[in-house]
Amino acid sequence: MHPYPDGFLWGASTASHQVEGGCVNNDWWHRERVLGLERSGDACDSYHRYDEDVALLAGAGLNAYRFSLEWSRIEPEEGLFLRAEVDHYRRMVESCRARGVEPVVTLNHFTVPQWFEERGGWTAPGAGDLFARFCERVLPVLDGVGHVVTLNEPNLHSCLVNMGPHVTAFPPAPDLAVADALLAAHRAVAPMLREATGALVGYSISSISFHETDATDDAARRLAHDVIDRWFLDAAGEDFVGVQGYTRIHLGAGGPLPVPPDPAARMIEQIGWEFYPAALEEMVRKAASLSGGTPVLVTENGIATASDEERVEYTTAALEGLEKSLADGVDVRGYLHWSLLDNFEWASGYGPTFGLIAVDRETFVRTPKPSLAWLGEKARAALA
Ligand code: BGC
Repeated sequence: MHPYPDGFLWGASTASHQVEGGCVNNDWWHRERVLGLERSGDACDSYHRYDEDVALLAGAGLNAYRFSLEWSRIEPEEGLFLRAEVDHYRRMVESCRARGVEPVVTLNHFTVPQWFEERGGWTAPGAGDLFARFCERVLPVLDGVGHVVTLNEPNLHSCLVNMGPHVTAFPPAPDLAVADALLAAHRAVAPMLREATGALVGYSISSISFHETDATDDAARRLAHDVIDRWFLDAAGEDFVGVQGYTRIHLGAGGPLPVPPDPAARMIEQIGWEFYPAALEEMVRKAASLSGGTPVLVTENGIATASDEERVEYTTAALEGLEKSLADGVDVRGYLHWSLLDNFEWASGYGPTFGLIAVDRETFVRTPKPSLAWLGEKARAALA
């Protein structure tokens, strides 16, 4: 007997800038150029190949796909909305539906149009209104969509620019004013989205399992609270809260330790995080308890590794933890693996490979890894 409830979502996640390619009008495209970062370029060309991506996911036995809308395509200039781009994302929803896949749509996954960034970003006057107007314009995409994630990780959004390769002292430097502006933007649009679409509406939170050490002090605890835990308290009463997490961090004096205190700790080579799959259970339980029982949807969890055996090992252990929390009555509605594809990992470029599917960087040919079939089998067994 497994503890997964009926209707449990089994799937994988992506984000527009990381997979679509050619997101030339957003702030990240610009940042890559200005900061001399690896360019996202064509990414996985999922802008054109999304149907193949959805087919692979569905064919493996998964029943949910989380993807995001690229605001900079839909509104490339302030106030100029392109209907054909709205239609494009509607076709993505329909591609999912045609294959029995539940689309989980993120309205904003970090990237904003460059014009929005240039007028001051999320903390500039009127930013929330511009986001609300965008949300209204994309309502046709959302018709019949069951889960809408308004914002990806508002709590850590502002850190992203600092997320270079091998960032271990994560989170590097959160700007909580940005985080607060994002939360306000969510609150402003959520009722309208619920009303207009009937979807369950929530936001996703970057979660880390914090572990105390002998050196942990109040300043470190406060930081952990401000950056992560507080956001679950704020999620109380939402339709669901998206939990996204990968690892744990040890708290020292004043903040996170740059490396685990145990020199024998197993590290994930590609990204420098500790291999700690039990983080998922810890984060899910924390989310449910701090948010007063708000339903949890795991919107990201996975591992950056060249070894697909290691991916299966990690995910097996993560799901065992999830099953324990389900058996204890924690209301978890789904597990969406990060990521469906080997994709563009922000400031780390194409080095880290989180995907269930490999993508040839020149031909864009998709090669499913054994982990895709493995996760699909888990899903089939649980859904049978
Ligand atoms: C983000 C993804 C990112 C992943 C792995 C999450 O914080 O939402 O966009 O690729 O972590 O770093």
